[in-house]
Amino acid sequence: MCGIFAVVNDKTGNAAQTVLAGLKKLEYRGYDSWGIAIKPTSPETAKLQIEKHIGKIGEAQTSLPAGTIAIGHTRWATHGGVTDANAHPHLDCTGKLAVIHNGIVENYLEFKEDLIKKGHKFSSETDTEVVAHLVEEKIKNQKLTKAVFETFNELVGSNAIGVIDYETETIVACRNGSPLVVGVDEKNKQYFLGSDVPAFLKYTNKVHFLDDGESVVITTNEIKLFDLKTGAEKKLSLQTLDWKLEDAEKGGFSHFLLKEIMEQKETIAKTASVNEKEIGEIASLIKQGFKIVLTGCGTASYCALAGKYFFAKAGIESQTYGSYEFLPFSKFIDKKTLVIAISQSGETADTLIAVRQAKKNGAKIVSIVNARGSTLERLSDIILAVGAGPEIAVVSTKAFTSQLATLYLLSKAAENKYDEGKKQIKELKETLTLWIDKLSTRLIGLAKTLVDQEHIYLIGKHLNYPATLEFALKLKESSYLHAEPFAAGELKHGVITLIQKGTPCFVLASNDEVKGEILSSAAELKARGGRIIGVAPFKSSEFDEVVETPDLADLTIFGNIIAGQLLGYYLGIGRGADPDKPRNLAKSVTVK
Ligand code: F6R
Repeated sequence: MCGIFAVVNDKTGNAAQTVLAGLKKLEYRGYDSWGIAIKPTSPETAKLQIEKHIGKIGEAQTSLPAGTIAIGHTRWATHGGVTDANAHPHLDCTGKLAVIHNGIVENYLEFKEDLIKKGHKFSSETDTEVVAHLVEEKIKNQKLTKAVFETFNELVGSNAIGVIDYETETIVACRNGSPLVVGVDEKNKQYFLGSDVPAFLKYTNKVHFLDDGESVVITTNEIKLFDLKTGAEKKLSLQTLDWKLEDAEKGGFSHFLLKEIMEQKETIAKTASVNEKEIGEIASLIKQGFKIVLTGCGTASYCALAGKYFFAKAGIESQTYGSYEFLPFSKFIDKKTLVIAISQSGETADTLIAVRQAKKNGAKIVSIVNARGSTLERLSDIILAVGAGPEIAVVSTKAFTSQLATLYLLSKAAENKYDEGKKQIKELKETLTLWIDKLSTRLIGLAKTLVDQEHIYLIGKHLNYPATLEFALKLKESSYLHAEPFAAGELKHGVITLIQKGTPCFVLASNDEVKGEILSSAAELKARGGRIIGVAPFKSSEFDEVVETPDLADLTIFGNIIAGQLLGYYLGIGRGADPDKPRNLAKSVTVK
């Protein structure tokens, strides 16, 4: 939610352009509005210059003047509507300080009243603007750094801020709960600040992910790390990421979503070559009798549910809770519980709340994450980094299948069949590659017949049940079509009333123990006039048509789900949606 970007010592001398390009890479974090503040090289007034606009940043241009230090923001609105005035950065009354912010300042109203009494003029409805005025107030008696630290320590909520000061040409950034990372281009002495690495990957892969309670102070001479509570300086050690620039570019594809769907030919199999040691460690805890609780939100929660089926197949009991409904059940979590938290971003607020509670109860935390350096990683005892690379499209695809593959490997390891699982996952590469390349033509044809529909229903059973939930979510997110998934057995308990002549009904199936039952459910839908579209590795007389997927035993759901991802993409295109940036959604939901 919301993207932060800043540069100091921009070597092009056009920091506003650099910031704009960086914000475009962060657009997936929020696309209600965007804005930039710069200290011009030749200022007409002794003030920061600002440009802000509502709408998507994709095609935006900036007319801000030349400069070498600037900050920018792309917004996902929380407090205050989507207006130019509410777009960040927010200025103080002097126009010399500007603030960008990701998070929610829960106690902003108490500050605002007091600041208004002191004569501060507010020009937005946001919680963020109080930060600019608070720093302005404090800077009267102390240095910028201390004023920002003190202000930040008074804020309640999960927040990350960046403050630019005209006078000292300094950017101070602080983190508590919302992600922040700095990048250092040592050769050109350029410093970057971002909510995520892709924003500055073009310039450097040497980074430091800020921890909660840390601040960086960036001047034209240096970058320093501080502890926010004590104000003491800390050693800044940079890590070098193995991400390549191509990972954050579209690479010839029309959208990141399509690129990331196609990348699964490689990314799923890659999970078989990582985390072997960690998976062994977790399997050993399971064998010692640790009970398993899986949690996550949205797509990650469906991954958790699929994990529950994988573990059940391996003869191991597990429990699954959506992280947003975790707390009532947290009393059952104890020292002998392994909480497996699944998240692409590692920053989802509800998931972090669940994990923090589980940690309080003494549970061991395992995270299955994609993004690196996240809060979830820091909270974890064991990290399974799935290594799918940056996922830029808001809709999760390759991170999901890598997480799913990781859970499969874990369930196999827990029943002492890790090598078998590894082989199966590795083999997916070739099978999926051959199949995906032919899938597009089939799905474009299908999408054309569905593009004007209003409702689609989907059923699946056993492993294909979570697959159906995920398939439906992809259709909804990418194309705004109402797609309602059910466990096959549930449909006849009420919702079958909605099936009429021609209603599209997807039936996800595998050659498994419930093939006969799911086909009976398909027949029931067909008898009510439903148009039955099978997604399965076989043809059947119960299907009016079929999207054939590879027969991969328990792993058939990989193909079944990928078919949903790609169909969602083509339906989105056909229905005029932006597949990379669905309306109202943000990539990383860092608020409750
Ligand atoms: C699905 C999607 C969301 C996320 C959910 C959790 O395509 O984008 O449902 O899966 O918000 O996000 P992470 O995995 O980052 O915790």
